[in-house]
This record gives sequence, C-alpha cells and structure tokens, in this order.
Amino acid sequence: MATNRTFTMLKPDAVEKGHIGAILEKITASGFRIVAMKLTQMTAADAKEFYAIHKERPFFGELVEYMTRGPIVAAVLEKDNAVEDFRTLIGATNPADAAEGTIRKLYAASIGENAVHGSDSDENAAIESAFHFAGREMF
Ligand code: RTP
Ligand code: MG
Repeated sequence: MATNRTFTMLKPDAVEKGHIGAILEKITASGFRIVAMKLTQMTAADAKEFYAIHKERPFFGELVEYMTRGPIVAAVLEKDNAVEDFRTLIGATNPADAAEGTIRKLYAASIGENAVHGSDSDENAAIESAFHFAGREMF
C-alpha cells in the first residue's frame, strides 16, 4: 500500500450517537479522500484479532465488548502524510487530553469510548485495511 493511506473506524459510540455524518464531514473537509467505506459490525473474534496488541492489557475485555456492541463505519482514507495527519485530526486517546477541535475532543466520551480509530503506522494501516476490505482489488 502507498504510504499516503490510513485506516479508520467510527466506533460504536459515535454511530449510536448519530455522529457518522458530522465526523465524515470533518474528515473530508480536512483533505482526506474516502477510498473505501462500509457500515459493519465486528464479532468478538474480529475485535480480539484487530486489537491483539492490547490482549494483555486490563481494559482488553471492555475494549472487545465496546467494539462489538453495535455497528461501526470502517474506511480507508487517502491524503499526503495520511497516518500522521489523521492521528492529529482525531486527537489524543483520552479526550480529556485531546486538542480543541479534534474529533475526540468533539465527540468522545472517555478514554475507553473515544469515537474513532486511526492507524498508528503505514504498516498497520495496510494490515487493518486488508482486515476489513480483504479481496478488494485496491489492496
Ligand atoms: P485506536 O487504536 O483505537 O486508534 O486508539 P489509540 O491508538 O489512540 O489508543 P490505543 O492505545 O491503541 O488503545 C486502543 C483503544 O483501547 C481503548 N482503551 N481503553 N480504559 C483504558 O484505559 C483504555 N485505554 C485504551 C480505547 O478505545 C483506545 O482507543
Ligand atoms: Mg491504537
């Protein structure tokens, strides 16, 4: 995958609260192009695999429960410097620490329920995009 792509999920809390439109507007207004997108719901097995890096953490069970409790929007985004710029746009993991105007500052409730995911490296962007959009020609 080119290094100008990242992967995002609008998490169940954001979808439940009706924030899909507002968050996508902010993403596209910030210069990201939507390359692929779908509304879907993760199974427990999906969430455990996706967040396997956190499996020893005390919050892992809560994280799996949260990420599977309702639909998410999964999307691949394109922009120069996509991974870093998208992490800047979403803000810190804990919304209490997130900069003004970031998606998590605007829409996240807590460190656990923080509205949106953003890949943390080009390598993980490719892995995560393939996880959700396997078989797509573009990947
Ligand atoms: P993400 O992977 O979802 O983009 O979030 P992130 O990089 O900002 O944060 P990360 O450390 O990768 O954590 C993944 C997700 O686990 C939940 N979490 N809960 N209760 C807690 O202390 C805690 N810490 C992390 C959050 O949903 C976080 O986004
Ligand atoms: Mg992360």
